[in-house]
Amino acid sequence: MRLILLGAPGVGKGTQAKRISKRYNAPQISTGDILRAQLKEGTPLGLQAKAFMDKGELVTDDIIINMMRDRLNEDDCKSGFLLDGFPRSTPQAEALGVMLEELNRPLDIVVNIEVDNEAIVGRLTSRRICRNCGADYNTVTNPPPADMVCEKCGGEIYQRDDDKESTIRNRLEVYNNQTAPLIEFYSSKGQLKSIDGNKAPDEVYDEINIVLEGLN
Ligand code: AP5
Repeated sequence: MRLILLGAPGVGKGTQAKRISKRYNAPQISTGDILRAQLKEGTPLGLQAKAFMDKGELVTDDIIINMMRDRLNEDDCKSGFLLDGFPRSTPQAEALGVMLEELNRPLDIVVNIEVDNEAIVGRLTSRRICRNCGADYNTVTNPPPADMVCEKCGGEIYQRDDDKESTIRNRLEVYNNQTAPLIEFYSSKGQLKSIDGNKAPDEVYDEINIVLEGLN
């Protein structure tokens, strides 16, 4: 399975990627997670990326493309992969096309998840995450404990710096300007399938599975 999950911030790419990755035994490659891990380790790449991420801007294409070239050449990608948050611009999509051609590993499908903007703002302003294990909490639907200590691992629960409302709105604008053109980019190649992401996570997962099962 070689799959791209496309969609605005907060549509549920990460939520669905975890499930699909498990079912198809393909690594979930999240550029956002890789950048946050680099930042946690204090690497030059992480520190360079932080300024862009905090503002809700895209990290520059050259940084992301080099990072993904290395990642896609790792052994675990030989039998498939699931890209979560990459590509996010036309230059990134073009570079990915070249990389996959060189590796002789064509894409199977691009799943585009669609959610209303106001629902996205609601999801992301209420999201809280465990810094240690990544467990997902939500102040409305799944409140974290009052002491903000993760029930699963004892880690600290926090709010992502870019999950403040003004930054979320900027991320949505950046998505519209720089990432949304990829819908036409992949649609014109006959590789895109759009899914309604406004439904409950299980229902969205079922719809994605119908698409993926139809590939075989
Ligand atoms: P990244 O970490 O990729 O953030 P994002 O795309 O903004 O994605 P999110 O993690 O916020 O949302 P998601 O769609 O994965 O939704 P999730 O499943 O988490 O990127 C962060 C930053 O890194 C970027 O702004 C940029 O600076 C940089 N970056 C990353 N990749 C880059 C690239 N390729 N090029 C340049 N820069 C890059 O769900 C969100 C919430 O909603 C959760 O709380 C979840 O529980 C909830 N939820 C999920 N599904 C549902 C549902 N169906 N119903 C109700 N709630 C739901």
